[in-house]
Amino acid sequence: MAEFHEPALLKETLTYLNVRSNKKYIDATVGGGGHAVEIVKRGGNLLGLDVDPDAIDAAREKLEKLGAKGWVLRAQNFKNIDKIAKENDFYPVTGILYDLGLSSYQLEHSGRGFSFQKNEPLDMRADPDLKVTAADLVNGLSEKELVKLFEKYGEESRARAVAGAIIRSRWDKPIRTSAELADIVTQVVREPRKTHPATKVFQALRIAVNDELNNLQSSLPQAFGLLEADGRLVVISFHSLEDRIVKDFMKNMIKKDLGGELTRKPVVPSDEEIEKNPRTRSAKLRALEKK
Ligand SMILES: C[S@@+](CC[C@H](N)C(=O)[O-])C[C@H]1O[C@@H](n2cnc3c(N)ncnc32)[C@H](O)[C@@H]1O
Repeated sequence: MAEFHEPALLKETLTYLNVRSNKKYIDATVGGGGHAVEIVKRGGNLLGLDVDPDAIDAAREKLEKLGAKGWVLRAQNFKNIDKIAKENDFYPVTGILYDLGLSSYQLEHSGRGFSFQKNEPLDMRADPDLKVTAADLVNGLSEKELVKLFEKYGEESRARAVAGAIIRSRWDKPIRTSAELADIVTQVVREPRKTHPATKVFQALRIAVNDELNNLQSSLPQAFGLLEADGRLVVISFHSLEDRIVKDFMKNMIKKDLGGELTRKPVVPSDEEIEKNPRTRSAKLRALEKK
């Protein structure tokens, strides 16, 4: 299998987490284990979570190769981070990392229709136990609901046109694949854009299928509660909707004098990193220290 995932902002993440030997760290989105391995290498004890069992398998393989002890992985959703940490007797902790979004493996090799550049079933579930797929939404929501979804989670200015085109196409036959949907969107989003015309629609569906924003919103306060004094919360986000939730949460903790700001402005990848790993171009890292 190709490299599962190249970790974003690795050096910066390790600097802000300030990993110390024998302290506890939670990687809430362990993915292919890129960040997790570095935490364990530095002597940190690790609890790693991911909703995707394929990610847990990849991270386990990487951590086992290291031959180090002091790590445990759970195929669980970070929306339950407090319960999971307590069940595993893993608290208080010195640092918690969220590296949001999807791994390169999920985008390119999972066959779940996350990418508009592939022709795959329109699934988009990061967690295979979820019941509703992107195809269910695309074929089942009303025109009004589709408009709302594309506006709210995609900030898509052509939401009405896209929803209309989907409804017309559905009259013929259900929309089953990522390529079919990308085609329909491309026909109505015609103005030049920096990204592929279907980027925002795919983002919106992915957020809705995986309930990404609600999960993040409910997880951050729990994570903060698990931190010891001087413990650090580090979050890497990949789009403005996520980043707004992180920024507002951290601002609120600072305002209540519960946290100290570590990143006045979000930390972004160097030109060199973006060139090597273009997926990181929209990454923003924010960090906070608990008082
Ligand atoms: C960008 S990848 C993480 C990559 C990882 N840091 C690495 O270096 O390999 C994001 C991961 O978060 C997982 N994920 C997304 N939402 C989640 C949630 N609510 N709970 C747990 N994991 C989640 C995805 O399945 C994906 O594997």
